[in-house]
Amino acid sequence: MIDIHSHVIPGIDDGAGDIETALEMLKIAQEDGIKTIVATPHFYRNKFECNLEEVKKHLENLKAAVKKENIAIEIIQGQEVYIDKCTTELYKEGIIGTINGSKYMLIETSLTGAKPKDLMDNIYELKLLGITPIIAHPERYQFIIKDNMEINQFIKEECLFQITSTSVQGFFGKEVKNTAENLIKNGICNFLGSDAHTTGRRCPKIKEAFEDVKRLNEDVYEIITKNSKALLNNEDINLKMGYISKKKKFFEFWK
Ligand SMILES: [Fe+2]
Repeated sequence: MIDIHSHVIPGIDDGAGDIETALEMLKIAQEDGIKTIVATPHFYRNKFECNLEEVKKHLENLKAAVKKENIAIEIIQGQEVYIDKCTTELYKEGIIGTINGSKYMLIETSLTGAKPKDLMDNIYELKLLGITPIIAHPERYQFIIKDNMEINQFIKEECLFQITSTSVQGFFGKEVKNTAENLIKNGICNFLGSDAHTTGRRCPKIKEAFEDVKRLNEDVYEIITKNSKALLNNEDINLKMGYISKKKKFFEFWK
């Protein structure tokens, strides 16, 4: 299994606090059956500003420690970019980057205060640079929870979506779980990631969530592993998917 979203690099964001925790997280991932994990530390202006070069250096240090500990897991460079009006400039300057130098960038926005119009404008700018955005945990954004159909505009704009394993398992509450399940049932899930921050409940485990995905939508289950491999090889991923349609109110069924 490939986990495309994790905060395992120690000391640079709100993920692993030290190298011991990072190694413990990677052991948990290995036991769960994860062979490859993408390290995606936050890049969040004025909060977590570890630039791409620094991420790469930290990653090399972590890889050396992993080798010493005989942990059989491959760690790939990524970043989780908090997208805003400066994102394209930061990318051009090499401050932020894509996953493994591919055309795919993992992006996030405010969970509670995101403005869909601004998000769309920033995504549009990114796409002009040839980048395909992967929206991290769409099931956790309030505006999507409130109306799942809000995701349709981002499908039209050919974004990809990474659903988080702990969302499917109810860690973030019923609303997030229901949204994750609805997206998966409708085929709107290109990747599964742990978004692991700790060795506790938000640890790098995705196996159980994979089984949940299989129960919800076998087609999605089949495609997510293929997509993750394609992502790491910078190959094309099918951007076409279904849309969320309007739920019929009870009385409308009789029309
Ligand atoms: Fe994350």
